Amino acid sequence: MTSLADKIAPDNIKKLIPYQSARRIGGSGRLWLNANELEQPLHFSDQQNAYHRYPDFLPQDIARAYQDYCNTQKPVLAVRGADEAIDLLVRTFCQPGKSRIAICSPTYAMYEFCANSLDVETIDVPLLMPNFSLDVDGVVRAAKSANLVFLCSPNNPTGQMLDQQDVLSVLEQTQDQALIVIDQAYIEFELEESVVSLIDQYPNLVVIRTLSKAFGLAAVRCGFIISDTSVMDYLNRIVPPYPMPDSSAEIVLDALSPEGLAKMERSTDKLITTKNWFVDQIQSLSWIEKVYPSSTNFVLIRTRPNVDLFNYLLKAGIVTRNQSHEPSLKHCVRITIGSQESMQEVATIMSRFANPV
Ligand SMILES: Cc1ncc(COP(=O)(O)O)c(C=O)c1O
Repeated sequence: MTSLADKIAPDNIKKLIPYQSARRIGGSGRLWLNANELEQPLHFSDQQNAYHRYPDFLPQDIARAYQDYCNTQKPVLAVRGADEAIDLLVRTFCQPGKSRIAICSPTYAMYEFCANSLDVETIDVPLLMPNFSLDVDGVVRAAKSANLVFLCSPNNPTGQMLDQQDVLSVLEQTQDQALIVIDQAYIEFELEESVVSLIDQYPNLVVIRTLSKAFGLAAVRCGFIISDTSVMDYLNRIVPPYPMPDSSAEIVLDALSPEGLAKMERSTDKLITTKNWFVDQIQSLSWIEKVYPSSTNFVLIRTRPNVDLFNYLLKAGIVTRNQSHEPSLKHCVRITIGSQESMQEVATIMSRFANPV
């Protein structure tokens, strides 16, 4: 049976024979002299771990640990951050100069950036104001001419979950049209909203995850793609031969152990408490128009016009993200939730911003 992935994958990807990396061809060798590695490690640091051999082609222990964490049997691909996942999906399923992706702005900028870098056109179906809800009909229409639709839930930079019914409606109506990629980089802050289990029902759903946010491992560079086998078969053809450095893989396995997961959950609970406290402190300030509800580790704040919160905080040494370049986010600043001490300081500084205009 022809899958949607078969239908949209470009011919060059269909013809591609996966690169035969040293770790794909193996067997029960005694002396491994097939990959031009140094046979004995030099141990530059006092760590005893050796890094002279290329890592596993696809670290299966990490994939299994992440499947357990997500409670899924669907194939999982570990990549270098969710950003690599986005790039890989566009490169696998889009053809330069021909294919399109769809996005719903305001959203994470890398979807359009990756498409631009590969000469793939982006169709924007903006989220609907005032609540940044999904334009379901618009997305379904765009999916007719796009190979990939990127939805971000919880969404960066608005901080909100997309409505589950809207997402289901999109999945239902696009099954033979486009792959629906749902980026759940921030899902640990709203874990019951995971969409991974929907892949069974909707093989056109692809989920992106990361350890950069709630797990606090941004420097380790680990993200995941979870999808139906029909989609994963194509991704496996194009994924770089050694996607995960051993040094990162060791840390990832610790993070996904029962102890690691418990630690992440405690930290997430604490962060949510700090976020709620911070929002309580600032939301009644006279020059704030709105603090948007957040299912993430950041809050989006809309100020009155002519209030330059971003530069006020910058002068105080606090670096936040100005969102005013987005047409629907004029006078909006995104603030990451840090430690209780940091947020106490930010709240105090904001409360002194008495006559900003
Ligand atoms: C929605 C979203 N997706 C993906 C990423 C990239 O994550 P990673 O660090 O895993 O590449 C980010 C980072 O800010 C993000 O906000």
